[in-house]
Amino acid sequence: MAKLTGELEQAFNQQVTLELEASMVYRQLGIEMDVLDLPGIASWFRAQADEEVVHANKFIDHMTDRGAHPRIQAIEAVTASAGSVLEAFQASLAHEEKVSEAIRGLYRLAQKQGDIDALPLLNWFIDEQLEEEAMVSELIGKVRLIDDDGPGLLRLDEELGARESHGTEADAE
Ligand code: FEO
Repeated sequence: MAKLTGELEQAFNQQVTLELEASMVYRQLGIEMDVLDLPGIASWFRAQADEEVVHANKFIDHMTDRGAHPRIQAIEAVTASAGSVLEAFQASLAHEEKVSEAIRGLYRLAQKQGDIDALPLLNWFIDEQLEEEAMVSELIGKVRLIDDDGPGLLRLDEELGARESHGTEADAE
């Protein structure tokens, strides 16, 4: 088994922490939507929060599989707030872009260190980030179209409320 270098182990720990931070950001945004009486959109954010825990677990499992010792670092106070649905999705996109950049950094580091074993996992995450950014961008587009139209917003609330959480196990996806 190829062990992670100290530098990569540290970078993986940071990524685990960032995924858990993303989970908290989504959880807070879900709360904001609940406050706006939009339970469907709130549950979409909660499912998204669960998915971020799955992401953290994927990194944790990869590390332990390779004999490393994952350590969750301090998570900055979650300052995500949103007075509107548009602001909530814009905050999500900003966070996803931050995560995507971190994954690219990890990929570059793994390549530089010749860590071939980490590349399939990181490739999976590169695809996942593309999907997540595209999904959130599409939602921002829809919300812009809806604008201040109440019935349109209620339809979106119903549509997003139909999403199910698949739990937080790393193999759940
Ligand atoms: Fe795990 Fe949405 O980034």
